[in-house]
Amino acid sequence: MDTMTITKAGGAFCGALLVFLLGAWASEGLYHVGGGHGEDHAMGYEIEVASADAAPEEAAPEVPFEEVYVNASAEDGERLWRQCSACHKLEEGANATGPYLYGVVGRPKHAVDGYAYSDALLGQDGEWTPENLSGFLLNPKEYAPGTKMAYRGMSDVEDRANLIAYLATIGG
Ligand code: HEC
Repeated sequence: MDTMTITKAGGAFCGALLVFLLGAWASEGLYHVGGGHGEDHAMGYEIEVASADAAPEEAAPEVPFEEVYVNASAEDGERLWRQCSACHKLEEGANATGPYLYGVVGRPKHAVDGYAYSDALLGQDGEWTPENLSGFLLNPKEYAPGTKMAYRGMSDVEDRANLIAYLATIGG
């Protein structure tokens, strides 16, 4: 009886030890495999970063507005005015949904007499320089949170430069 108990206990112990060792061996194997993957990922990441650095020319929207504006085409900008004409007029004094934009380039912000600007616009300082106009037109709601100008924004920097060049030919 004693011998049987010892044998059973010993067998159970050996079995448990074997399972433990196998498990340890397997997990070590997995660990090494996992480590290998990790290195692969690290290499892939480095390659991605390197290729992103290698092709800055492809990132067209990163060209600063100022550089694009130097070569802007008022002629091309005139076509884009359509996006504004539903709400704005170019004749001096002609307010519509939005204030008239005659001479708006270089004009102080919220300067049109008799137009009821939102607090968002009244809280703005400075003038509508080409740079400020570009920022506003890129994303009106981000530039002037709470503005009542319901315009989605013009994402293309060349379009903004051309349109502002066109506006600069109107009055002012
Ligand atoms: C859906 C109507 C709508 C469209 C489209 C629209 N605007 Fe406006 N715009 C407004 C309103 C309304 C305001 C007054 C905003 C306020 O008070 O918050 C405004 C304000 C402005 C101002 C500020 C003027 C000032 O006197 O400070 C500029 C500049 C302007 N818009 C330019 C443009 C241009 C350029 C476009 C075309 C790309 C355009 N908007 C498209 C409605 C519009």
